[in-house]
Amino acid sequence: ASYDMGGHDTYMHKEIHEQAEAVDRVLRGRIDDRFSTVHLGGLNLDARDARAVRRVKILGCGTSYHAGQIGAQMIEELARIPADAEPASEFRYRNAVVDPDTLYIAVSQSGETYDVLAAVQELKRKGARVLGIVNVVGSAIAREADGGMYVHAGPEVCVVSTKCFTNTCVAFALLALHLGRTRDLSVRDGKRIIEGLRKLPRQISEMLEQEEDVKQLAAQYADARSMLFIGRVRGYPVAREASLKLKEVSYIHAEAYPASELKHGPLALIEPALPTVAIVPDDDLLEKNRAAMEEIKARSGQILAVAHQEQEKADHTIVVPKNEDELDPILMGIPLQLLAYHTALALGRDIDKPRNLAKSVTVE
Ligand code: AGP
Repeated sequence: ASYDMGGHDTYMHKEIHEQAEAVDRVLRGRIDDRFSTVHLGGLNLDARDARAVRRVKILGCGTSYHAGQIGAQMIEELARIPADAEPASEFRYRNAVVDPDTLYIAVSQSGETYDVLAAVQELKRKGARVLGIVNVVGSAIAREADGGMYVHAGPEVCVVSTKCFTNTCVAFALLALHLGRTRDLSVRDGKRIIEGLRKLPRQISEMLEQEEDVKQLAAQYADARSMLFIGRVRGYPVAREASLKLKEVSYIHAEAYPASELKHGPLALIEPALPTVAIVPDDDLLEKNRAAMEEIKARSGQILAVAHQEQEKADHTIVVPKNEDELDPILMGIPLQLLAYHTALALGRDIDKPRNLAKSVTVE
């Protein structure tokens, strides 16, 4: 591709910095203040269809799968519909039970990932209703789906997905709000989420202003051979995505774990040479996350916290602007994109084209 780099040295850097604008685009024209809901005409799902949904199953690969995990939590929280995400590649080979009351959602930046497309085709063969959450307009998955939403992130050139992840999470928040408002989500909560969504572009810009600090932290962690990423509930998919970002672009081994699982094994790995990145939102699990950091500190592990306030237990904290609890994962992902980027830059990696990877995997 040959889009203008707009003064940035890499597409990854450019795309990270386009996120405030991109989020503005995914929101544009969709919010209905009068009824504290959103209009998503492309879903082809009327209020009665929406109410008939008993379950939501989200399918995607890589970063899109992680956005789907965040989306599943938003749908459960705001619409109280049981929801989960699964890698599309696993789903299509396990002869899954296809249920007519389940709403299936295929997530893909390119709209061309073969495993996702094949999962959609398998679902349609079995009579399921499938929506697409896709970036590229008119792509194969967008055409194959019964309806859906475009995430309007704009062209993403870097192999490593950044702005599309953020926009897909915002698209899920809109969908969760829409499903919620056809069910038991109150006007008041609808309004609260809408206000939170509207704050995102400004908060993203604020976050990006801290780039110099993140760059300095990246320089300190760049010689690690491996890193651990931990989070709980809302923070866990953020940890998984951050771990994938770091691996892809810096080639440093990284592993994500639920903070609650530390005691069940990974604590054995903790030593000064294995730094931990802890996702610590200021929500009802704050104390639990602090306790996990204490366990790590007691074993001389280094901690970088991504949190809404300075964390005493951590060696360093990146402070992220607070939004509504349900929307916090969106902003918490952003400094971690910068961390992956600056780590890769410090190590002299080929940022836009990491070795062994392709932008979209259109074969088996
Ligand atoms: C993202 O950083 C990765 N390069 C990769 O995991 C990607 O998200 C995955 O291949 C899915 O692509 P898609 O969203 O275009 O379907």
